[in-house]
Amino acid sequence: MPTVRDLHEKAGEAPITMVTAYDGVTATLADEAGVDIALVGDSMGNAVLGYDSTLPVTVDEVASRTGAVARSVEDALVVADMPFLSFGAGIEAGIRNCGRMVKTEGANAVKIESNERTVELTERLTQLGIPVMAHVGLTPQSVNQTGYSRQGSDPETAREIEALAHEHETAGAFACVLEHIPANLAAAITNDLEIPTIGIGAGSAPDGQVLVVNDAVGLTEEAPPFAEAFGDVRGEMSDALNSYVDAVENGTFPADEHGHVAEELDDLY
Ligand code: KIV
Repeated sequence: MPTVRDLHEKAGEAPITMVTAYDGVTATLADEAGVDIALVGDSMGNAVLGYDSTLPVTVDEVASRTGAVARSVEDALVVADMPFLSFGAGIEAGIRNCGRMVKTEGANAVKIESNERTVELTERLTQLGIPVMAHVGLTPQSVNQTGYSRQGSDPETAREIEALAHEHETAGAFACVLEHIPANLAAAITNDLEIPTIGIGAGSAPDGQVLVVNDAVGLTEEAPPFAEAFGDVRGEMSDALNSYVDAVENGTFPADEHGHVAEELDDLY
């Protein structure tokens, strides 16, 4: 069973790889590719659930997909991303929602978008045996306050992000996502923290990298500027579906080999 200790041993020796997964097939493929962490990201809101942002994503949605991912991997650490308002409104409710991901759905850890009010929750969860991944910089659940723009580009906000990462490390977080912040700030935070950092749009200094799987495989129509498509799944899927529609419409599918004839019915039909 993968543990955060395995991850700590890898950090510094080799880059950590993390990718989002929202279903069993993707999780199996990511696991077979050797991905270290399968993140059941609340980015599922935009990526697969048809929402405009991550805000409408529910605890039930993340729970159901966390279960699918956890049942489908052997080696990857499964991290459930806690959705908007599933934490922060009260410690007990936050513990209950995070606990459900580990106790009922099989996650190994949770990720919480960090702010000043998640320090205590991180401490309590860690004490209870629920590893917490922190997340600083651009935190998409704060879209109504910050938009999706890069964060930490001026000295004041850079210091705030650095301090938040430190506070969460002290509270017990086992890793910290750095999203869409300047590479020099990410390098400084990575250098200062003992726990591994995992960057997205944060340069190459972090101990690991994360991408939304739709962006990584080329399924997203308009990916963010810091993402890279390592395939063209959108093109492949589109070609396959167009071919299927054509084949049904022109009568080449199904062919004889796709069906069967029961000889026992010869007298009847
Ligand atoms: O939900 C998500 O996909 C994330 C990653 C971008 C870190 O939070």
